[in-house]
Amino acid sequence: MTMDTISILFLLFLPFLCFLFILLPFLSSSSSRSRSNQAGKSTIGLPPGSMGYPYVGETFQLYSDNPINFFADRQNKYGPIFKTHILGCPCIMVSSPEAAKFVLVTKAALFKPTFPASKERMLGPQAIFFQQGDYHARLRRLLLRAFMPEATRGKVAGVEHLAVSALSSWDGHTIDTYQQMKIYAFNVALLSIFGKDEMLHVEELKKCYYTLEKGYNSMPINLPGTLFHKSMRARRQLGQIVADILSSRRRQRNAVASDLLASFMDPKEALTDAQIADNIIGVIFAARDTTASVLTWIVKYLKENPSVLRAVTEEQMEIIKLKEEGAEDKSLTWADTKRMPFTCRVIQETMRVASILSFTFREAVEDVDYQGYLIPKGWKVLPLFRNIHHCAHNFSDPEKFDPSRFEVAPKPNTFMPFGSGTHACPGNELAKLEMLVLLHHLTTKYRWSLLASDTGIEFGPFALPSNGLPIKISLKTTMN
Ligand code: HEM
Repeated sequence: MTMDTISILFLLFLPFLCFLFILLPFLSSSSSRSRSNQAGKSTIGLPPGSMGYPYVGETFQLYSDNPINFFADRQNKYGPIFKTHILGCPCIMVSSPEAAKFVLVTKAALFKPTFPASKERMLGPQAIFFQQGDYHARLRRLLLRAFMPEATRGKVAGVEHLAVSALSSWDGHTIDTYQQMKIYAFNVALLSIFGKDEMLHVEELKKCYYTLEKGYNSMPINLPGTLFHKSMRARRQLGQIVADILSSRRRQRNAVASDLLASFMDPKEALTDAQIADNIIGVIFAARDTTASVLTWIVKYLKENPSVLRAVTEEQMEIIKLKEEGAEDKSLTWADTKRMPFTCRVIQETMRVASILSFTFREAVEDVDYQGYLIPKGWKVLPLFRNIHHCAHNFSDPEKFDPSRFEVAPKPNTFMPFGSGTHACPGNELAKLEMLVLLHHLTTKYRWSLLASDTGIEFGPFALPSNGLPIKISLKTTMN
């Protein structure tokens, strides 16, 4: 959280604070009354924890501290299930593997996904993230069809081309790693959604998407001139661009495509153009900043752990050597990506330590009893992935970056970088592929230095090294 964001939040909440100060006595009593009503409805009690001040709850504590400390402090104080009140919502936080499994897997039907209404409008209300039931299952099947390993293996050459061109464009420059990884991940996402023949529309789509994302975290005030208004206009344009792509695909009736768009356009599925557009934009949103954040952390951890970088480079050089001895074609293959076990462990360990999605949100659709605690209907429930990944019971010496810990499979439900259950990430194979391919070329051909010794973390909203990790990168002069 930057100072700018904190000051903006403070200014936004200032009038509200004055209002609270005047009405505090009344609000306190009404709030405790409603809680005792809730308690009256049920024989079981709420989990421990503090609901903070009426209405604002603990929102200021969350924003004035770092979210990591906020959740860790409360877990230490109250245990693995506790209540709080943030951003206007009463919440139950869960940080044990068993409770996360209960919410995300075993009793997933009792906990629906939930997002602020403004985010839903911006991404598209029919996008997969907001759904449950049959429509959700249908969308998931189509996504999995496009992103399962058999489909992903056909994308290695395209992804490699994108990785090689990204790296060569960075050669000799100081780059903002995160911004550049975002461009790479965007290109990979577009390739997997539209295939490689959609260049014309794709450039236009990128421009609109950049406008959309500028307003994504802005105040949802839809008045001319506001960032939100501009974003919503860009969102409508994006819908139109996807509609144009759909029309041009329909005109080329004989074309056989194996991309996500083809999967969504399957006539048997009868998805409307609006449903397809919402989901295409949703997938771009889900695919880009996540993968870019993880790649940024990997670049940082590799540089900070020279023995790990050496081991990754050796593993990747081995693949090059095997090719030099044999095949005509030196391009990476799907089989090559299966010969990178150490690099895979580096990716796993990065996802554990960095836990770029610190938590996810659900909402209880009815009163739920979890181990004698009441999770009231309508309350938000947050499985805290980061806390689970950083708990010493699950991972010894949890703050240490140690890829070798993944030589042994983690205990069940303790490692969830791609979530778990009905909404678990359908793009995980593609994400792993694009990371492996980029790391292959990065470690074998390039050297880089970190330009700041800063250890800070920003949340934008995914956890990121400060300032997007500026690095200086250039081709190695020798191949060692
Ligand atoms: C390293 C990169 C990535 C990480 C860490 C990641 C993480 C996650 C997580 C934790 C969830 C579950 C959220 C929840 O349960 O609320 C999720 C869902 C999702 N992810 Fe990913 N993701 C990544 C890359 C991708 C990519 C590359 C794609 C697509 C190509 C993608 C598409 C999706 C979609 C569509 C969902 C929603 C699934 C549903 O609601 O059923 N993600 N991702």
